Order: sequence, then C-alpha cells, then structure tokens
Amino acid sequence: MNSKFLKSGHIKIYKRENSKFWQMKIKLPKLKAIRSSTGTKILKYAENIALKKFSSLKKYNEIKIKNKSKNIYKKIHLVETEDLNKKEIEFILQEAIKFIKFNKKRIKKNNLLEGRTVFNLFFEDSTRTRTSFEVAAKRLGADLINVAVKDSSINKGETLLDTMTTINSMNPDVLIVRHPEEGISKKISMNVDASVINAGDGSHEHPTQALLDALTIKSRFKNFTKLKIAICGDILHSRVARSNIIILSKLGAKINVIGPKEWLPQNLNKLPVKVFTDMKKGLKNCNIVMMLRIQKERIVGKIMPNEKTYFKKYGLDYNKLQYAKKNAFVMHPGPMNRGVEIDSELADDVTRSLIQEQVAMGVAIRMACLDILIKNRDNVLSY
Ligand code: CP
Repeated sequence: MNSKFLKSGHIKIYKRENSKFWQMKIKLPKLKAIRSSTGTKILKYAENIALKKFSSLKKYNEIKIKNKSKNIYKKIHLVETEDLNKKEIEFILQEAIKFIKFNKKRIKKNNLLEGRTVFNLFFEDSTRTRTSFEVAAKRLGADLINVAVKDSSINKGETLLDTMTTINSMNPDVLIVRHPEEGISKKISMNVDASVINAGDGSHEHPTQALLDALTIKSRFKNFTKLKIAICGDILHSRVARSNIIILSKLGAKINVIGPKEWLPQNLNKLPVKVFTDMKKGLKNCNIVMMLRIQKERIVGKIMPNEKTYFKKYGLDYNKLQYAKKNAFVMHPGPMNRGVEIDSELADDVTRSLIQEQVAMGVAIRMACLDILIKNRDNVLSY
C-alpha cells in the first residue's frame, strides 16, 4: 500500500517514489491543500501526525470562515466610546460572540494574530484589564510584551510620549495604554502608527470595559431597547460609568444613575440619563444594577464617606435589590470592595451576580478588539 485516505478524504497519506517517508496532503474547504512530509517511515505515526495537523487547521479554518462577516468598524484605534456609533458597537459585540465559544474549548489557541506584537503599557494598577488583554493576545497567537512601567526610563525623566515613540519604533501592532491622565490615549494615538487601545485614562473612559459589560448584558437579554439599567455609586470619578452610559444608551437602553450628590458630575444633564440620589427611587423597574467602586485614588484631598454609612445608603444588598425588577441582575466592573459597594453574599450569588461572567466576556471582547484593529491597520498600511 502506498496511499491511504482518512477523515472522509480530507487527508491523504502517500509515499513518493524514491522516498522512504510518508507524505501527507490535507485539504479543507476554502483553504489551499497542504502537502508535506510527515517525517516518519512508520504509517501509524504518519497517520497521527496528519490527524493532528488536520485538527489544528480545522480549528484555524473555523475561525477564519466565521470571521468573514462584513467589517463595520474601520478605525485603527479604540480610545473613546464617543467615537463609536450603534452599528460599530453591535459589530464589535458580534465579533466577540465568536470568541466566547472558542474560550470554552479545551485547547484555547489559534494563529489569527501569529507574528503580531502587542504591548501592555499600564501606568496604573490593574488585574482584570491587563491580564485579559494578555490572555486575549496569546490565545490569538500574538506576542504580548508587558512593559514593567515602574522600572522604565520614565523614572529617569523620559516623557511618556518619548517612551511611546521609542516603543513605536519597534514596529508593534497594538499599544494598550492605561494611565491616570485623561485623554492621554488619544494624544498617543496621534503620535504613533501602532493601533492604540485606551485601557482606562483617569476618570475619562474605559471603552473595553463598557463593551464587555454590554456583551454580558446581551448574553442575558438580547434586546437593549427594553432594558432599564441603574449605574450606582461614585459616578463622578468613574471612567466605567461614563463609557457605559455612552455605549448602553447608544444600544437603546434607558439609564438611571444613582449616587451621593457630591459624586454626581455637573455635566450629567448632557448625557442621556435620569439622575437619582435615592436608591429606592433610582432602582425602580431596573433590569440590571451596576455597582461602581469608590475611586479612592481619585478622591485625594477630599473627605471620604464613612464606609458603613455609605454602605447603608448606597451599598447594594438583597434588601435594596428588591427595589429593582424581580430577578434583576447585579454587575460590578471590579475590583470590588465587599461590604462597601456591595454585600459580599450578593456578589457571590451566581443566580443574581454577573460579576464573574463580566470577566469571561472581557477576554472575548479584547480578542475581538485586537483582531479588528490589527486587520484595519493592515488595510491602511496595505502590507
Ligand atoms: N475593571 C477594571 O478595569 O479592573 P482592573 O482595574 O483590575 O483592570
């Protein structure tokens, strides 16, 4: 025997004249046939090698084929939710849905972004955002470099923009930036040719957080136009609140913001929200209650509320949750302060709390964002 077919003819194992080694030919729909040596003279080993190659190509092909949807978001940066229209938001959510299933597989790896370079540049603490970008990039096959900003040349007086242009000279594909200065990601995006993702700039914006929150809500409700969502707590200092108000209202949800008077920004009247200082009134008929962390690092020099008093008035527990719709869900972007913004038992109650689901959705959203931005940049640069 000098040839054998496997997997309904998708794999052919054969021997060439003058060669002792088994060859393999693998053909999958919409992919060119791959022919190569298996590197072995033993048929059984050759079959195993071909089957492994077949299954990795199949996974790659599934992702490629699923990714054929029309690209609606054509920009190369993601720095402000203000820049996104409803169709673009829906497109990003749709792209991310492909990765939710992928992330539940036993082997979570493909080569969509093989050979691409992504930098994590976090000038502020982070667990969720930094690691989920790292997981996202690695699952797509990209090389991710975590820059240890605390040990960088910024400590020697180098300006932030000089650091960014230095890294940009290494030809990265994406720079992911978290920094306390509002608007810094936009400034960086105008000075580099890599794609820039804003991973949180001061109290201003955190676009991927709002997108992952929207994806979490979409996985439960499908239609945003029938939803009333409460965003509660330290609205003034929260970039999450701002980005969520913009994204969720563009998707059609009604938004109530609830918080102490001193933490409600002056310009709320310019945003499509109803404003409350009372949890009972603000939570009425809400399908989702999104709690916010008190941004202690941004309340420097001001009087902090007593945590017990704050929890009594604004912390979410089972009692206050009763003011919302029956079976309303609870969200929190994290990191959360148990017993300050949210009751610990409620936070862990998987029948009501979507907090861990938000983290899982974060990886899918960030995979989608990396994939979309890198492809858009390829089109602009015409590689
Ligand atoms: N939600 C959020 O941005 O969390 P990290 O600060 O841990 O990234």
